[in-house]
Amino acid sequence: MLRQQDVGHRIVVRRIVGIREGRPLFSDALGELVELSETHLTLATAQGPLRVPVTQVHRAKRVPPTRRPTAAAVVALERAADEAWPAPTRDRLGDWLLRTADGWTGRANSALPIGDPDRPLPAAVDAVERWYAAHGQPAMINTPLPLAAPVGAELDDRGWGSRPPTLVQTAPLPLAARPAAGAGIAATGSAAAGTSIELVAAPSDAWLAVAAGRKGGLPDAARHVLTAVDEVRFAHAYAADGTLVAIGRGTVTGQGRWLGLSLIEVLPAARRQGLAQAVIAALADWGAALGATHAFLQVEQRNTAAVALYQRLGFTTHHTYLTRVAPH
Ligand SMILES: CC(C)(COP(=O)(O)OP(=O)(O)OC[C@H]1O[C@@H](n2cnc3c(N)ncnc32)[C@H](O)[C@@H]1OP(=O)(O)O)[C@@H](O)C(=O)NCCC(=O)NCCS
Repeated sequence: MLRQQDVGHRIVVRRIVGIREGRPLFSDALGELVELSETHLTLATAQGPLRVPVTQVHRAKRVPPTRRPTAAAVVALERAADEAWPAPTRDRLGDWLLRTADGWTGRANSALPIGDPDRPLPAAVDAVERWYAAHGQPAMINTPLPLAAPVGAELDDRGWGSRPPTLVQTAPLPLAARPAAGAGIAATGSAAAGTSIELVAAPSDAWLAVAAGRKGGLPDAARHVLTAVDEVRFAHAYAADGTLVAIGRGTVTGQGRWLGLSLIEVLPAARRQGLAQAVIAALADWGAALGATHAFLQVEQRNTAAVALYQRLGFTTHHTYLTRVAPH
């Protein structure tokens, strides 16, 4: 049967749709699993969303994605994502990247093992361990899968742990859905029903405070990670009384192809009002105007609210990664 780890993946569900002459009638549905609760599951099918009560599910299992991206496509996207979230301290181990940022976020404090490390795999992992020890940090390695599966196997042998899986999702620009009419949001700054969205080149203190709340503080290196990108915008969504109710960050990297979305966050009291969609729409317009053709983002597989939001905007999983952590 299905588990939360299957959310974000393609699955096939055999449903019981009726009974004829005492025998069940089955129907199969294929799509991306966007939500799994105790009572229902929701599939994004080619025909649209399909909500199935679990009592109707006869069998369900994960199936391979329709088209696996090529290794070159995964490498290019991982490099664009690294550019969009630049660690201030970086080194190379052959083609591998070594990164630290005062421990702020797994992505900026992990090695990226793609390409050739110029030495046998065990020696490369030894070198990563030594580099992080010299920087006074626990060694972490971010393994895009299935590309870095051999590295993952080596880390398994060494007893490395893993953070929960992250989905790297992509969508073509322009995005599929727009804020619903009447949602009361204006994406370009003119207030409708009192809410406005501004895109600016530097984050305000209020913006940074929201980001700090989500990511557990902001060391000095965090400012570098957030701002040291040539093309970057910080989305601020303000309520009528001027309080900041939602934030987001957009970057354009990868030779101008990729709009990267990060730190999409809506204050709890302002959720389910279309604000995240409106923030993303504003950043997508900005990225498309700069010539970006696709958007990408990274979302934890277990973050069902965000996965549902992105599915609605046309995002699908390009690949996944695990942040692996050396044993203490
Ligand atoms: C995920 C998050 C950004 C969504 O913000 P939001 O403003 O509430 O989202 P929207 O109102 O624009 O939602 C648009 C659609 O996304 C989906 N969605 C959003 N939140 C959802 C939830 N909790 N459960 C299921 N679907 C959800 C729905 O389809 C929703 O449309 P609907 O309200 O008409 O059903 C917000 O919950 C949040 O800030 N979470 C904490 C931070 C976070 O996880 N950020 C993402 C990191 S990758």
